[in-house]
Amino acid sequence: MSLTGKARLAGIIGWPVIHSVSPVLHGHWLAEHGIDGAMVPLAAHREDFTAVIDGVRRAGFSGVNVTVPHKESAFAIAHSVDAAAKAAGAVNLLVFRDGRMEGRNTDSRGLAESLREEIGALDGKTVLLLGAGGAARGAILALDMLGAANIHLLNRDSKKAAGLAAALTPQIKARIEPGALGDWVKAAANTTLLVNSTSAGMTGNPPLDIDLGALPKTAAVCDIVYSPLETPLLKDAAARGHKTIDGLGMLMHQAAPSFEAFFGIQPKVTPALRDALVKVLRARQN
Ligand code: ATR
Repeated sequence: MSLTGKARLAGIIGWPVIHSVSPVLHGHWLAEHGIDGAMVPLAAHREDFTAVIDGVRRAGFSGVNVTVPHKESAFAIAHSVDAAAKAAGAVNLLVFRDGRMEGRNTDSRGLAESLREEIGALDGKTVLLLGAGGAARGAILALDMLGAANIHLLNRDSKKAAGLAAALTPQIKARIEPGALGDWVKAAANTTLLVNSTSAGMTGNPPLDIDLGALPKTAAVCDIVYSPLETPLLKDAAARGHKTIDGLGMLMHQAAPSFEAFFGIQPKVTPALRDALVKVLRARQN
């Protein structure tokens, strides 16, 4: 890749940011479209977030994607936020335009697109979501977008599940039934889709302690993380014959509208892109 002095620049800001595959992902589309531009990692501690954002804005960046731990700070500093960001209470995309910062959230749409691609709409269906943190909030919005009628929301700390259900119920059509992880067997019985939004099973964390034997054979199983690509949950689900959906689909689909905002072209999510990302992630795991 060679850049000129007119190159369009975007960033991915986080801490740590060393594990981000966003530069690879956007780099793939930049090469595909022959764009004079780059997506660069911006490692910023929590206390440096505002200063780094100010610096890259002044340097003429088109915008940044925002990841942990800055999504709430990005929400707070944006001059305006879209409906998705408002619903999520978090911003994963800041677009710098005409001296203003527009905050958007493409995470929920990204998960919805990934699920739609793999299993279609969820009209009238009952689904089961594990976790009650920020990722769960986004996942509930995605499941609602796909038309799910009932969302069983189970969390280790059931009070958090109840709190999240109460906060989101006024905003969505789906009915949320909160509970504890201990309610798993009962809740699993009539679900068509299981989504894990907890941090259990991520690289460095212990796996979820649930028995997938309680799931109907026809249920699909989705893990929204992509590190590792095949989490213990997905491995177990695949061995039992369930359709599995990993976190790469969500990652690619949340990135597409970001790329369009930064570089002005609507990119395509293709098998070649997925292969490129899998290669990078596999090399990292070895
Ligand atoms: P995020 O913003 O990514 O959602 P978070 O707010 O820290 O991150 O939420 C992490 C989620 O993973 C929580 O729902 C947490 O459950 P608790 O609220 O009970 O802590 C869940 N989690 C983490 N480790 C877990 C484990 N080993 N088993 C089950 N749930 C776990």
